[in-house]
Amino acid sequence: MPYVADTFIAQIDTDSGSPETIALAGDIIRQGGLVAFPTETVYGLGANAFDEAAINRIFEAKQRPANDPIIVHIAIPENIFAVARDVPDVAATLAQIFWPGPLTLILKKNDAIPGNVTANRDTVAVRIPNHPVALSLLRTAGVPIGAPSANRFSRPSPTRAEHVLNDLAGSVDVVLDSGNTPIGVESTIIDLTSPRPRLLRPGGTSLEALREHLPDIDYQPQYIADNQSAPAPGSLLKHYAPQAAVTLYEGERRATIARMHEVASEQIAKGQKVGLLLSDADIGHFEDLHVEIATLGDSESTSAARLYQALRELDTTGADVILARAPRSTGLGLAIRDRLIRAAEGRLVTVE
Ligand code: TXA
Ligand code: MG
Repeated sequence: MPYVADTFIAQIDTDSGSPETIALAGDIIRQGGLVAFPTETVYGLGANAFDEAAINRIFEAKQRPANDPIIVHIAIPENIFAVARDVPDVAATLAQIFWPGPLTLILKKNDAIPGNVTANRDTVAVRIPNHPVALSLLRTAGVPIGAPSANRFSRPSPTRAEHVLNDLAGSVDVVLDSGNTPIGVESTIIDLTSPRPRLLRPGGTSLEALREHLPDIDYQPQYIADNQSAPAPGSLLKHYAPQAAVTLYEGERRATIARMHEVASEQIAKGQKVGLLLSDADIGHFEDLHVEIATLGDSESTSAARLYQALRELDTTGADVILARAPRSTGLGLAIRDRLIRAAEGRLVTVE
């Protein structure tokens, strides 16, 4: 069996679901260990959500600040009551429509959940992931699993097992490898404890789909610089950041491409290594330049699925700067745009 730095990497067979491996991973969870597993969004770094010491290991492995709470994953909707209290009716409705799936609900926490899971807040984040490996792990472990994305803090989230190993080899007991995660950006988070439901993080479930059931849902994007104190969870501007400095461009397509071409040429002339994050349709406009190109395909869903891999790929090339076009704020585009703005630490140029 392959090991990297004391981390066991287990390939999960798509047809059989590798039940022996899942059983072993379930044991590791119950014994207080850490298991990285695929979800439909990104890979998660999981521990028994009832085990305070195991949850502490997650914070250590990720080098994650203790004030950033963790999402609790459950196997069936009824398990909500094992982690939350005073659950509003709307939570049951949303669970029925969107679970299993990329939607996380913030609810009042109950006493069974240790304080470190929720960063000592009185609310807890809950979801049922829509991935066969995640679901069979949850059922086999028999406990809710607390799991943030399985990357080191402030690195792009992992969409492949190799990303988990690059960031966390040696700090996680086993990585369940079942290839690329299909959606590629994290779950949408909504707060159901405020008077009006609030979207805290756009993600794999679109705001448009949520509005059909929550017409009064509120969304105020928050991008808060590192040096400001006590930001709301997940609102840090510098998140999902690659090593290279990312700049986003938006505006009319031709003009935007022309500006990006001009900036890339200037950077190259200055001796900078330039990386471009491009849709298939835009690549042809940059073929005359000596640049590294990562492609996002030609749809919102391929862009989401490839985004983090593309950022990691451009980093590996040693790019000093990365230029990208900001997508529209609709559908999955809202989540992609949010992650790119964070990766760019807010550098968004509007081309007139
Ligand atoms: O798709 C996902 O949600 C993935 C997979 C593994 O499920 N998980 C994930 O976890 O993205 P993480 O920890 O990388 O992001 C969770 C976000 C954090 O920004 C955290 O601050 C927020 O959820 N969060 C967790 N509990 C919260 C709470 N009680 N109140 C407000 N925000 C919360
Ligand atoms: Mg994360």
